[in-house]
Amino acid sequence: MVRPDCFKIAYAINPHMRAPDGSLKRVDLPRATAQWERLRALYDSLEMRVEMLAAEEGFPDMVFAANQSFVFWDGEKPCAILSTMASAERQGEIQFFEAYFKQRGYGVFHLSSYTTEPFEGNGDALLHPNGAFIWGGHGYRTSESAYETISRLTQLPVAPLRLIDPNCYHLDTCFAILDEKTVAIQESAFDAESLKRIRAGFERVLVIDPEENRLAFAGNAFCPNGKDVILNPGAPKFVAALEASGFRVHESDTSEFIKSGGSVFCLKMVVFSG
Ligand code: ARG
Repeated sequence: MVRPDCFKIAYAINPHMRAPDGSLKRVDLPRATAQWERLRALYDSLEMRVEMLAAEEGFPDMVFAANQSFVFWDGEKPCAILSTMASAERQGEIQFFEAYFKQRGYGVFHLSSYTTEPFEGNGDALLHPNGAFIWGGHGYRTSESAYETISRLTQLPVAPLRLIDPNCYHLDTCFAILDEKTVAIQESAFDAESLKRIRAGFERVLVIDPEENRLAFAGNAFCPNGKDVILNPGAPKFVAALEASGFRVHESDTSEFIKSGGSVFCLKMVVFSG
């Protein structure tokens, strides 16, 4: 996770960041920090080890640690592909992730050395739980053709998913993988062909109410272990569906981060332990 000390809304690069009158939303930093600390403590209570990067002045979105990289195993060692952020404002965040991964001996690839196409890491690209292929969201932040390079570098096929709802500008805002058989999605965020692909890839598809997704970011839920699901409160229908499917639900308030268009899933990057 990245510490939230420098988190604010300094520009708008997604529809959530503006108030109805067009002005930028305002973050309550002490409140955001308390929410972030509670989320971190929840990981502790689930016995997940959290490593932290310092916040960096001038990078108010860096707290959304899901976007700067894509982590994979190349058969011998951990590797990370560093993103090409869609917006100039966020590109400078990459250097801090590069330093983190290099220090830990990862094989590090800059996507920008191979292509100029934008790509935003785990915001859009998610490894299927069996590790055999990547779900590749595209349409807003990541371009479909970036996946040619991602596929080549990871040696994994990519199942492309076209996003069509501007509120769901990253795949992780409308597609939460819960276990190898189960995914939760906002259906209206995908085109017909992508929906078919999702239904073919998972035995069980939980459908998230678009309003629960828009207001509470239900689709940004994070299931680290196939059992516990962490999500922002305010999605009672989705919580009932999760519980009926045997998942353990943990609500953690991320309302300050939702103002910027991100919630639980966006606030971390899963890395290799050790
Ligand atoms: N304000 C950030 C942006 O627009 C939010 C990123 C949310 N992250 C995510 N993985 N969906 O880039």
